[in-house]
This record gives sequence, C-alpha cells and structure tokens, in this order.
Amino acid sequence: MNRYDHKGVSHYEFLERLHRWLNPRTYLEIGTLKGGTLRLASCPTICIDPEFQLDVSSAANREVTLFYQKTSDRFFQDHSPSALLNGPVDLGFLDGLHEAETLLRDFANLEKHCRSNSVIAIHDCIPMDVGQTTRINNGGLWTGDVWKVVPILKEYRPDISIFVFDAHPTGLVCCTNLDHGNTILDGMYGEIWRTWRSTELSDYGFSRLIEEANIISTSRVETPEEMRRYFWL
Ligand SMILES: C[S@@+](CC[C@H](N)C(=O)[O-])C[C@H]1O[C@@H](n2cnc3c(N)ncnc32)[C@H](O)[C@@H]1O
Repeated sequence: MNRYDHKGVSHYEFLERLHRWLNPRTYLEIGTLKGGTLRLASCPTICIDPEFQLDVSSAANREVTLFYQKTSDRFFQDHSPSALLNGPVDLGFLDGLHEAETLLRDFANLEKHCRSNSVIAIHDCIPMDVGQTTRINNGGLWTGDVWKVVPILKEYRPDISIFVFDAHPTGLVCCTNLDHGNTILDGMYGEIWRTWRSTELSDYGFSRLIEEANIISTSRVETPEEMRRYFWL
C-alpha cells in the first residue's frame, strides 16, 4: 500500500463531537492560525501560536480565552496551563509545528497538566502518503514527520490508550489514560530522538504505519454513548 484515504468526517467535525459530547471544562490548543479549531471551544481556553491570524471572534461565547503569541516551547517554559486555568486541561489539541521532536515535547509538556481521563488529540499523524512527510513544506497537504510520534508513544508509553480515527484528511490521534507524573518521555527524549531522527517513513514502511495504527472509522463515534466507549471526562 502506498496511499491511504481517510474516509471519515473532517478533523473539525470530530473535534466538534469531542467538545459537544465530552463537554470539557478546559481546553488548550497548540497551533491556532485563523481559529478554525478555536471556534469549536466554549469552555475556558488557552491558545498558543507564534503568529495568530484570527478570522473568528476571539472571545465568542467563552468566559475566558487566553492567547499566547509565542512558540509552544516558550509557553511551557514561561507558564503553567493548569495554574492559568485553575485546574487540569481536560481536552488538548496539538496542531503546531510539524516536526516530530517538537510534537513529542508538546505532548510531554501538556500531559503534565492533564488528568488521567483527559484527552489529547493530535492532528496530521497519519499521512495519506510518504510524499506528505518531508521535513520541509513543499506546499500542498503536508504533515511533516509527525507520524513518528504514534510509534514512539506506543513503544515508550504503552500505558497510554491511543485511538486513531480516520478523520479526513490526515487522521486524528486521540490519547487518554494519561499520567501527569510520568517522566519517561522527558528522561528518554535524547535517546528517542537519536533513534528516530533519521528514520524516514519509506524506511519504516507506509503499510506498516497504517496497519499498526489500527485505524477506527469515525462512523463508530456518532452518538455520546459511542464516544463513551473510548473517552469520558
Ligand atoms: C495547521 S496550523 C493550525 C490550524 C488550526 N488548528 C486549525 O485547524 O484551524 C499550524 C499553526 O501552528 C503554528 N506554529 C508553528 N510553529 C509553532 C510552534 N513552535 N508552537 C506553536 N505553534 C506553532 C503556526 O503559526 C500555525 O498557525
């Protein structure tokens, strides 16, 4: 196999279901751009992006919306999201820099502010083909090499429950059963990145990535009850 077409609803539609049916008390997103995913949130929210280009209402119907115009690394150095929100982050969405090592840090940093049942959704981890996974964005649909994060999490953090949905166009990976005190990703970061830095998807195998992902159709999550088979807050 050298191409996989995600047949599910869009990642926006699936994120909207997560907001509607899990009703998170707090939301944090890395990578906001124009606000396409921000507009789905109605609870107290933190947005992080070094270059906002909002074309949606910045406040909408939310009591609290905090904008941090800086990189995610700088944000986590400077701030504690759970302190800012007066509680853990219930729902997180990672859609920032399309580099695997940055996404891994984003995940590890955010997990420290989650509770066990929180959900961290990650965009772009299941590319449609190898051509989308270059480190440099050559235009068109581009995922970068963030696909590596799924096999890395499965290897180093088998305690996390990872569900991969066929959300159009490049999948949505949803992680729960988190552990805010777990330091494995921080402690092993150097070793992980030495092992994975030069691994291309063509070496790892596109078919292997798709097979190991155990991709679930979004049509299996069309009611609140069906969602509760996977997630609850
Ligand atoms: C794909 S866009 C986000 C789209 C948005 N979530 C949506 O679906 O409408 C990626 C965003 O990540 C931001 N970004 C790039 N590097 C980043 C970093 N180091 N930390 C946080 N955000 C970053 C970019 O400025 C860009 O706005």
